[in-house]
Amino acid sequence: MKKQENPSLRYARYFWGSLLGFTILLIFDIITGFGVTSAVIGFLFPGKVINLKEPTDRPIILPMRKEDVKIPPTLNDPYDDLRVLVVGEIPEKFKNIIINKHHLDVPSNPTMKEFLNMTEDEYISSLERFQNRISQHEMYPEDDRLVQRVLHNLATAKFNELYEKSGGTQFKMIVKYENGYRALFKPMRLQRDQQAASSHYYYNDYERHNGEIASYHLDKILGFRRAIPMVGRKINLTSEMFPLVDDELASTFYISPSGKVCFTGVCDVFCDTSHGICGDPYMLEGSFAAFLPRHKNATRKVWRHPWRRSYSKRRNVEWEWNDNFCDKVKQIFPYSEGRRMLDLMDMAIYDFLIGNLDRHHYETFKTFNTNETFTIHLDQGRSFGQPFHDELSILIPLKQCCMVRKSTLKTLLDFHKGPQKMSDALRESLKDEPVAPILWDPHFDALDRRNVIVLEHIRNCLKVDDEK
Ligand SMILES: *[C@@H]1O[C@H](CO)[C@@H](O)[C@H](O)[C@H]1NC(C)=O
Ligand SMILES: *[C@@H]1O[C@H](CO)[C@@H](O)[C@H](O)[C@H]1NC(C)=O
Ligand SMILES: *[C@@H]1O[C@H](CO)[C@@H](O)[C@H](O)[C@H]1NC(C)=O
Ligand SMILES: *[C@@H]1O[C@H](CO)[C@@H](O)[C@H](O)[C@H]1NC(C)=O
Repeated sequence: MKKQENPSLRYARYFWGSLLGFTILLIFDIITGFGVTSAVIGFLFPGKVINLKEPTDRPIILPMRKEDVKIPPTLNDPYDDLRVLVVGEIPEKFKNIIINKHHLDVPSNPTMKEFLNMTEDEYISSLERFQNRISQHEMYPEDDRLVQRVLHNLATAKFNELYEKSGGTQFKMIVKYENGYRALFKPMRLQRDQQAASSHYYYNDYERHNGEIASYHLDKILGFRRAIPMVGRKINLTSEMFPLVDDELASTFYISPSGKVCFTGVCDVFCDTSHGICGDPYMLEGSFAAFLPRHKNATRKVWRHPWRRSYSKRRNVEWEWNDNFCDKVKQIFPYSEGRRMLDLMDMAIYDFLIGNLDRHHYETFKTFNTNETFTIHLDQGRSFGQPFHDELSILIPLKQCCMVRKSTLKTLLDFHKGPQKMSDALRESLKDEPVAPILWDPHFDALDRRNVIVLEHIRNCLKVDDEK
């Protein structure tokens, strides 16, 4: 006969058994970083960011690792098979891949001013003139002198008022000039040759003011003209900044043990002296971005990038497991019409060249027709961090969609063929920058190498189509 067990004892055994099992699971989860624990905690305490296994906020500075560079086997390939496609007629079977449609072929390219029927006072500043002249298809026209004037002013004019821009994890400052100009300032945090940590933690990295500047120049030489004009400048923290900031920000100034003038900025997260922003000893370098129009009808719309990253180690965004994701995106407005899809392809190429993984959102001007206006190349602070690593995942939109503007392909091929390589063009463009040199040398080699990788991706698209 079976011995009857005391029911309360049985429940106690179940209870302790489950508790033990749960604890083991919990420890396993924390060790492997699978993420259930943080998800549960995040669910129970919304607003709290739990990063159990993330590294600290400080970028890990890696030594130079030349051996990591993988030279594409086709570096010296002239890519004549692609060249015939951009100089001649595109064969029918490739017409869905190499798209012979340029936005400037559309005759109408109204400016902000024309679109809004604004009347322009003749005494307005170059900055306002630049703002009014932003057009449906580009931030500024080719060979533009006005932007040069704007940048010169941003780099030399006197400041009138400085205040910290709230929000975001990194210090940014709004700069008002005596001449009425406004700019967004990002301070230098890293030396030119400091590399970013592994790509997984790119969002923990400091933004790079020189990355912003170099990215603006690269956008221009690639013929996109979708980035915000940007210039470098050194400011004297003691005489140019301290007297113009409010008391709260002024109270965060201090002198470091090595005699440098520093400040922390006002924020909750990283505003302590271990993250202080310091001059050398009182001169601080930074990037100054021209302000976009503040006119209420020139506001911008923020779009979630269809290929945004999950910001979690678990693969839970569709593009990571569905190679047909692009077909889905193409059905949806505004990707279904106009230039948007091609702009995203350009953006993938651009981001791959500059090494920017941080494109979770992008913006367009609301002023113009949604499907006819350009995507703004905004916020390239997390670029030019890893010259010895080519992050192929940035090219996934191009790989999955297999489409590219003929004009973009032609530009890439021209730079590949030379005599002026993409690196030469960027060097040339950056040489007169007020805080030159802007980039560490290995970044220039990376550009030419990455250009070949893009071309190889496009060639693969044509091969696949050929086999059909
Ligand atoms: C600008 O003027 C044109 C022609 O007068 C008009 O059709 C259009 O609606 C106006 N646009 C705005 C935004 O007022
Ligand atoms: C600006 O937008 C408002 C509606 O948001 C509209 O009433 C007004 O006419 C617009 N102004 C111009 C100059 O287009
Ligand atoms: C910065 O300002 C301080 C205080 O006015 C001055 O002593 C110093 O010479 C300035 N440094 C430079 C490089 O202009
Ligand atoms: C943009 O969308 C509108 C409305 O769907 C359409 O009439 C127009 O032709 C589209 N423009 C382009 C360039 O596709």
